[in-house]
Amino acid sequence: MALLEVQGITKVFGHGHLEVRALDGVSLTVEAGELVALMGPSGSGKTTLLLCISLILEPTSGTVVFDGQTIYRDGATWLDVRRLRREKIGFVFQTANLIPFLTARENVLFPLTLVGTAPKVAAARVMELLEYMEISARADYLPALLSGGEQQRVAIARALANRPQLILADEPTASLDTARGKKVMALLKRIAREHRTAVVTVTHDPRMIEGFDVIYHLKDGRLENSPEST
Ligand SMILES: Nc1ncnc2c1ncn2[C@@H]1O[C@H](COP(=O)(O)OP(=O)(O)OP(=O)(O)O)[C@@H](O)[C@H]1O
Ligand SMILES: [Mg+2]
Repeated sequence: MALLEVQGITKVFGHGHLEVRALDGVSLTVEAGELVALMGPSGSGKTTLLLCISLILEPTSGTVVFDGQTIYRDGATWLDVRRLRREKIGFVFQTANLIPFLTARENVLFPLTLVGTAPKVAAARVMELLEYMEISARADYLPALLSGGEQQRVAIARALANRPQLILADEPTASLDTARGKKVMALLKRIAREHRTAVVTVTHDPRMIEGFDVIYHLKDGRLENSPEST
């Protein structure tokens, strides 16, 4: 059984002559541990698709099945989606979006606190994650004192805190130089291989997705091709 099944998702913004059909019948399947890249021109619907998969944005129609449960079908959400996002899906954005007045450690701790993890367990988990992201030496720094690549690794550690089954990343390397971008992507690949976490990432840069399992191309809200293997 696939981890994620998206069937015929459409998303329409506005109405009348202002109507924008951002997604126009998108279907895709993501397996546990799969590395999936989403490419396509600006405005093609990539961000909208990530937001609809996680139901941050409600689709206009279609079906989303996550881990065997129908979480959305044609206008109805079928589950506590906030809980689903807190516990099963991790997000990484173009810029790290760390909370500026919290240290790296406290930023990673935050989602663990949200789900009520015992303080000792949470503290150990945070250090394990910072070590895994090779950033533990910076644990007590505020985000402003970290480089862009370091901030992004903290953001990935934060996204992993609750051991999600799916990571959604929207151009996670866009603000980084090639070397730092590749390092961030290598860490995402490692997560997929070692923990069977599925990763769906948007990127403009083909150099960033070497070794990915599948590449989808979006254009005008439609998938242009059947999945292409790298
Ligand atoms: N909240 C919104 N209200 C109205 N239109 C929107 C909204 N969000 C996105 N759109 C429109 O939907 C289309 C898809 O936008 P989206 O942000 O998904 O593109 P993208 O592929 O992520 O582009 P980029 O590469 O520039 O980030 C665009 O035409 C955009 O203007
Ligand atoms: Mg976008």
